[in-house]
Amino acid sequence: MSDKKPLSSEIYGDAAFAQQYAANIIDNAWNAYYERPASLSLAAADLHNKSVLDAGCGPGITTAWFVNQGANVTGIDYSEEMISIARNNTEDRARLLRHDLNQELNMFNQSEFDIIYCSLVIHYIDDLDLLFKEFSRVLKPNGILIFSTDHPNAPFVKAIPVSGREQKSFFWNNFGIYMDAYLRPWNHITDSLEKNQFVIDKTIDPVPTQECRVKFPDIYEQLIANPNFICVRAINKK
Ligand SMILES: C[S@@+](CC[C@H](N)C(=O)[O-])C[C@H]1O[C@@H](n2cnc3c(N)ncnc32)[C@H](O)[C@@H]1O
Repeated sequence: MSDKKPLSSEIYGDAAFAQQYAANIIDNAWNAYYERPASLSLAAADLHNKSVLDAGCGPGITTAWFVNQGANVTGIDYSEEMISIARNNTEDRARLLRHDLNQELNMFNQSEFDIIYCSLVIHYIDDLDLLFKEFSRVLKPNGILIFSTDHPNAPFVKAIPVSGREQKSFFWNNFGIYMDAYLRPWNHITDSLEKNQFVIDKTIDPVPTQECRVKFPDIYEQLIANPNFICVRAINKK
């Protein structure tokens, strides 16, 4: 890890927060019944023996999901706390590494992965060009990058028009904390993908599931009325 503290690393590195986050996203509206099913639906139908990198794996819920599909999975995260929770959640069936995604992925070979899964992470990354360049290098030709991030039409995004990368603080009601993240114009993300030889294959505006409607009716109505996250699948055309 470099000397400069990566964005929001103190929050994700806090043991109490990491535990709370890990417990919360198992059964909440935004992740469990909205973003996660939509992002995972972008993965290939047959994941048996596929090599998958879960970049910014957090507590490893998606890492475990890929393991259970028969994939060989590596998870990376800058938070030692998250890595330790992910180790439990995957019952040691994944390779888990602490790493800051602002740095090059020197521990991986060229064309090592079939799939990179990166949910709700890119809005913490300083330099998207470097991240996508490294993703392209370590993905096989025609490998798949799946990522999710703040939807360009989400009300909280539209309320703060930006012309470049801008660091903002957002209040997370569920946790009672302010979380810093970057906002960028949407075309900066798509331009960076294109520059690094990715072609967008599919985007999804998630639809909250029926469990969301039953368990969290108010949030369901909110998410039906306005998007919050966007899920993207891009193919590596290197
Ligand atoms: C919103 S959580 C999403 C976790 C997981 N991808 C999921 O969807 O369940 C963001 C995760 O990205 C990690 N993260 C943020 N910035 C990172 C960076 N620069 N390098 C590595 N991990 C990072 C955080 O520690 C956290 O686990």
